[in-house]
Amino acid sequence: MSEQLYKLIRFAKIYGWQRALNKAVARTRPTWLRNPFVLRRQAEVSLIGCGQFAFSCVCFYLQKHKGNVFLDAFDLDEKQAESLGSYYGFRNVALTPADVFGNPALRLLYVISNHASHTPYAVEGLKRGLAVYVEKPVSVSYEQFVQLSAARQSATGRLFAGYNRPYSRAIQTLREWLPAQKPGGGFSLSYFINGHVIPPDHWYRRPDEGTRVCGNLGHWIDLTVHIWSWRSLPNWIDIRIAYANPAEPDDNLCVTFTTDKQDIVSILLTARSEPFEGISESVNLQYGDLIARIDDFRSLKLWQGSRRLERRYSPKDVGHERAILQPYWTDNRDWEEVEVSTLLMLHIKDMVEAGREASRFDLFQELKRLETDVQQKALPLTV
Ligand SMILES: NC(=O)c1ccc[n+]([C@@H]2O[C@H](COP(=O)([O-])OP(=O)(O)OC[C@H]3O[C@@H](n4cnc5c(N)ncnc54)[C@H](O)[C@@H]3O)[C@@H](O)[C@H]2O)c1
Repeated sequence: MSEQLYKLIRFAKIYGWQRALNKAVARTRPTWLRNPFVLRRQAEVSLIGCGQFAFSCVCFYLQKHKGNVFLDAFDLDEKQAESLGSYYGFRNVALTPADVFGNPALRLLYVISNHASHTPYAVEGLKRGLAVYVEKPVSVSYEQFVQLSAARQSATGRLFAGYNRPYSRAIQTLREWLPAQKPGGGFSLSYFINGHVIPPDHWYRRPDEGTRVCGNLGHWIDLTVHIWSWRSLPNWIDIRIAYANPAEPDDNLCVTFTTDKQDIVSILLTARSEPFEGISESVNLQYGDLIARIDDFRSLKLWQGSRRLERRYSPKDVGHERAILQPYWTDNRDWEEVEVSTLLMLHIKDMVEAGREASRFDLFQELKRLETDVQQKALPLTV
């Protein structure tokens, strides 16, 4: 059996056949293939960035729940936009971002391009009164994040971030078990992540793309902030970083947090070989008498005193489906969580770029600084 076929079968076991086949189509993009039997609805959703994630995840779930609502597809690589546009039945393939923004039918914009371009596209969308869903990371520098925050504060349209783990069923069930706890007390949290091997010439490696801290680690920084917010956020976070190889600081590293609320967190990212089934992760948590174990978002085990719960998730549920549908729901997470997780992520990115091993993040001061800078507004950005 060829490696590709074997992979397809293994992916089908994890994600179901429909999603596994769609992922394969997203990689190969046969130009003759069309997505059949999809109801045409009012076209008001446009996409910027038509790569793997846009094809295999964003459009897949949008079309599943909303039918064909697709207006303009734009990508710097026209072939990407054309293949995604024809498969999903977009009304137009846009040749420039201006064509996307200039279409009066546009209501909702999904930004799924490279990391450095997320903020400038999102800011433009917000300025035009659009609802904007922007993939993670929402910004790759503090200056960008000031721009985005300023645009959000003066916008009429809503802004959503692509961090999906908080929307996974495992995390939602874990949340339901927490109120039985007495408030207060520290969280013990540990993540072990087998990440992709990212070659040196991949765009993730470009100096302005924010390193793997923005590209990958941001997910678990954000999930930690989300979990802390169930209690209340710490006032300060002591950050320590251990690097396996200082020459490749963002590939094999362990980031730990301790806080004034007696939290202890470790995030270990390892990428020494390519995981055949894609990225995988385990999460272990203890809070008061609650113990939880999440295995790759395919299973959850909970223990609380004599109570016990075991759940399996097939297909694997990292929360993509619900996260992508945020613009259509009202009970989404607070943007303030994304604000804190982005500031913390950017602080850690700066540490990794400088090769630093220890630093304290004072949450109150960082939020105050952001607010001041948002009021003063920084320089305009270009894509
Ligand atoms: N939430 C998740 O779990 C998750 C998983 C995978 C990817 N993602 C995110 O999705 C986004 C895309 O990742 P991907 O895996 O699809 O990468 P990809 O390389 O397959 O696709 C990126 C696409 O963006 C296009 N592009 C690059 N610069 C552009 C620009 N300035 N304007 C317009 N288009 C541009 C590229 O030509 C390419 O087609 C990234 O932000 C990534 O972090 C999120």
